[in-house]
Amino acid sequence: MSELRSRAEDQQKIYQRWAPVYDRVYRGILRDGHRKLAALAAAAGTDILEIGVGTGLTLGHYPRHCRVTGIDISEHMIARAREKAKRENLEHVQALEVMDAHALTFADRSFDAVCLPFVITLIPEPERALDECARVLRPGGEIILASKLGDGAGLQGAIETAVAPLVRHIGWSSAFRIHRIVAWAERRGDFAAADILPVFPNGFFKIIRLKQRGLAG
Ligand SMILES: C[S@@+](CC[C@H](N)C(=O)[O-])C[C@H]1O[C@@H](n2cnc3c(N)ncnc32)[C@H](O)[C@@H]1O
Repeated sequence: MSELRSRAEDQQKIYQRWAPVYDRVYRGILRDGHRKLAALAAAAGTDILEIGVGTGLTLGHYPRHCRVTGIDISEHMIARAREKAKRENLEHVQALEVMDAHALTFADRSFDAVCLPFVITLIPEPERALDECARVLRPGGEIILASKLGDGAGLQGAIETAVAPLVRHIGWSSAFRIHRIVAWAERRGDFAAADILPVFPNGFFKIIRLKQRGLAG
């Protein structure tokens, strides 16, 4: 089995366990990130793709004039998101599908914004996933990420690196570095890191906005 397939199956098993309790654990702590990310996406346009939508905690934060599509690799998390969309009458949610961020099935230039709330650090080949986000984005659109995005500096960086192999088993990633996203944008040349915003609690999480330069054609 390929490394990518095996990592995908690990994520599916981990989030099958998380699905029934996820909202109770994460709703409060991630709310500020979800709210800010949804507002930034809506400011970029109406057609929004959310990668790693999970149980759909962000969905209710998008304004109702938006058209939101969510994907996730875990069928158990997507099932919760579908229940939530129905129960809360989230009519702006167009589709919720099981899909891997490394291989999106959407046509090129389908969305004004692509959001990745608390997922990029868990994706085995984040640059490949970001290339997919770029492909489905319209010129001038934005990729908006929220996560624990450390810079690796000092004692905190050393601890994050040391505990990474342990926390991986519960679906966390502590050693992902923000430079990786900035380097991806610089290498491509058609994206600029527009903003890095602190998120509750006290900047522990961050949002980074990558703006497509809107080349013609
Ligand atoms: C920490 S949860 C975040 C869920 C949601 N975005 C939120 O903020 O509450 C990470 C989610 O990413 C999903 N995920 C992990 N790897 C993925 C991949 N390669 N493609 C799509 N989704 C993935 C997991 O199944 C899980 O639902």
